[in-house]
Amino acid sequence: MESLTGRPLHPFLRRGIFFSHRDLQEILQLYESGTPFYLYTGRGPSSDALHLGHMIPFLFTQYLQEAFQVPCVIQLTDDEKFLFSKDNSKKLEDYQRLGWENAKDILAVGFDCERTFIFRDTDYIGTMYPNILKIQKAVTYNQAKAIFGFDDSDNIGKHGFPAVQAAPSFSSSFPQLFGSQTNLPCLIPCAIDQDPYFRMTRDVAPKLGYRKPALIHSKFFPALQGENTKMSASMAHTAIYVSDTAKQLKTKVNKYAFSGGGATIEEHQKHGGNCDIDVSYKYLSFFLEDDEQLERIRQEYSSGKMLTGEIKAKLIQVLQPLLERHQQRRSQVTDEMIRKVMTPRQLSF
Ligand code: TRP
Repeated sequence: MESLTGRPLHPFLRRGIFFSHRDLQEILQLYESGTPFYLYTGRGPSSDALHLGHMIPFLFTQYLQEAFQVPCVIQLTDDEKFLFSKDNSKKLEDYQRLGWENAKDILAVGFDCERTFIFRDTDYIGTMYPNILKIQKAVTYNQAKAIFGFDDSDNIGKHGFPAVQAAPSFSSSFPQLFGSQTNLPCLIPCAIDQDPYFRMTRDVAPKLGYRKPALIHSKFFPALQGENTKMSASMAHTAIYVSDTAKQLKTKVNKYAFSGGGATIEEHQKHGGNCDIDVSYKYLSFFLEDDEQLERIRQEYSSGKMLTGEIKAKLIQVLQPLLERHQQRRSQVTDEMIRKVMTPRQLSF
């Protein structure tokens, strides 16, 4: 990728945060021989603001778009969140609104508007419908049950949904964007938990006469409470949101970020901290770009020279300007810009 794009590798690649792939080398070979690809990623709009974990695939996709100068489609699955949510107080219209709001955070990441199409399923489903039907006919109920764990009491919308997430993997789902290029290669950056959808997609692709999409997967971003806990949109203290103020950031890190440090200063200085479980260190490994600084922190913290309070202060110092820049950019995204980026139109390569 470095030699093809003339750019240094993204830290997410250098550090194995994007750690696995399917057919990435084929995408790169095709690109090298003059066949461009398009990027496809997405988000289920379940909360007003995105947290740092949600940002990982978008930050990386934006980097790929800029490095390769390729088009990108971004699916907002308002339908998915409506069908899968157990919260019956939320209406379909609420998820549509969240999709619209989330599009602002996504645009603020820096996507190139000339090369990007963001769509909510409830707006755009019609154009994808022929591909959705072909996919649905090619997957049996038994297969879907085995992949997604549906059971007989799940609503019927859930059973049909995987085909909706699969359809954007095929360029013929976007006639207004790609015109006659109905079999463009597709690369999907996503978190590893989305892989089942795309294993299904890759399985059906040859049956429909389409290329299999390529994938590149990221690891999970841990919750503040530690590696084996889950970030929850309904529990604000489990995650740092891109909308958090400097004060909220500071409080969350100091109060909730799980520490791998010793129980007392004496113990910490004697045995050192454990970077494998320390959330502040983990977050720094995602967001501190300077490799040498990160390595110095790892050594000093592991040896006990750097204290828990100090590694937390470092994390706050790294994240605060990132949040501030994001909020600044987001405040400049208007409804008019969203309307434009959500309008199907020819994308430039
Ligand atoms: N299902 C994903 C979620 O819940 C959203 C999504 C749709 C997606 N299409 C995608 C994620 C493609 C990654 C790639 O967030």
